[in-house]
Amino acid sequence: MKKLTYILLISALAVACGGSTSEKPEKEASSLSSRDEIRLKQYQVQGAKIYATYCANCHQQDGKGLASLYPPLAGSDYLLEDMARAACIVKNGQSKEIVVNGVTYNQMMPGNPITNLEVAEVLTFIGNAWGNEAGLIGVKDVDKWIDACGEGY
Ligand code: HEC
Repeated sequence: MKKLTYILLISALAVACGGSTSEKPEKEASSLSSRDEIRLKQYQVQGAKIYATYCANCHQQDGKGLASLYPPLAGSDYLLEDMARAACIVKNGQSKEIVVNGVTYNQMMPGNPITNLEVAEVLTFIGNAWGNEAGLIGVKDVDKWIDACGEGY
């Protein structure tokens, strides 16, 4: 009999706790920006690893690119003016004439076998490295952008 009371008590507690968590999001709404701050840091750390593995060979560790072959990401007007386009390039690659900071490039960038989350992380890294200040690039946005990638990327 004692055992049953104990079990009932535990389940009552579980329900009580479950109930209180459903109210939490409203209470925490004001600290949303600090949660984004943490995510920004996490994405930057993960993104740096992805960058070193998949991107630095061509765009270089300092993001400055290589001669007329690989365009820069550091201070790139082309990158910073359209993150949706950047997500498509990172995922699917691109091969056409583009102008980055006044310089024309026309080479082939291959697509990358990485998840949308990893795309968000690497974009957050390059978007906030070397003086770039694009802020957090969320995975939900990246999902939408990649679904909408057109031809030509
Ligand atoms: C094999 C070399 C190579 C690799 C690896 C590579 N890129 Fe590129 N990337 C290029 C080239 C070449 C272009 C220009 C493509 C064109 O002319 O259309 C480019 C263009 C870009 C652009 C748009 C132009 C700009 O400078 O803003 C972005 C953004 C970009 N790459 C990001 C990345 C990221 C992030 C990775 C890693 C996930 C990556 N690239 C891996 C060669 C590469």
